[in-house]
Amino acid sequence: MRSFSGRDILSLKDFERNEFFRVFEAAEQLEPIARNRRNADLLKEKTLVTAFYQPSTRTRLAHEAAMIRLGGQVTGFADAKMTRAGDFYQESIKDTVKMLEFYGDVIVMRHFQQGAPHEAAKWSSVPIINGGDGWGEHPTQILTDFYTVMREKGRMDGLKWLAVGDMRMRTMHSLAYGLTQFDCPITFVSPPDMSLTDEFKADLENYRLDFREAEHVEQAIADADVILVEPVVQPDYTKSRDERGADVGLTPANYKITRDLLYNKAKSDAILLHSLPRMDEIPADVDITRWSRYWQEAFYGVVMRMALLALVLGVME
Ligand code: CP
Repeated sequence: MRSFSGRDILSLKDFERNEFFRVFEAAEQLEPIARNRRNADLLKEKTLVTAFYQPSTRTRLAHEAAMIRLGGQVTGFADAKMTRAGDFYQESIKDTVKMLEFYGDVIVMRHFQQGAPHEAAKWSSVPIINGGDGWGEHPTQILTDFYTVMREKGRMDGLKWLAVGDMRMRTMHSLAYGLTQFDCPITFVSPPDMSLTDEFKADLENYRLDFREAEHVEQAIADADVILVEPVVQPDYTKSRDERGADVGLTPANYKITRDLLYNKAKSDAILLHSLPRMDEIPADVDITRWSRYWQEAFYGVVMRMALLALVLGVME
């Protein structure tokens, strides 16, 4: 297995099966620190830089919380408008990263341009973690989802997945690439104008992912062990910021997971994941059903980032 020390985390296409299990193992080892709400000193000599060119609640703060839980320091920006990249100068990724690499030991970057973290990794002497790039990928989110599945179901192989949402979305790309390493058939349900692109489908077929597409969640929910939902009513991920307009529309029933649907059609031991934020695709009354795991995911999201930081910073091998 390749060492994680000094490694960029840019895509799950790069991940091998045994590397997923190494990350899960590291996360499980570190989990008691977060569970007991303690701070340790594993990363006390290290600093995380957060470079967020797009809004975020979970990804930025979970990385920061993870670093603090392991005794490290945090610096960075949550709004590029307050930096030279977001004003008159429009400073390039290269010039920005050639500064940031001296401000800390690892950089987590979210950007509205697909491939921006990859560009940063070309110039940075410290590891770059992709916190979501345009429509590209969101590897740490899907690692969080997989770790949640491991903790809640005890395994990955043999579970049937249902993914609902916009298949152009970065989480869906990381999900599909990640599942190629496991025995996990998946059904994708999306509006026709948000379906898997032909190019992406060809890539997945090349990787031998066992997938099919359906039009309505009702056609696929009964078989699913893991139901992963994302919005179909959402902002433009290629913009640095997309304010909500007056009329955003409602999620059609085809892409919505309701309490009735779960009670009438879902397996009683299936689990329901959502990376959040949500619109109306999972109504709030689903939160207290036996299927929902998205609040647990929030906890596992911190634990997962603790593991990634410890691994790429070389304090765990
Ligand atoms: N799931 C996720 O990426 O959330 P944020 O946009 O709040 O980081």
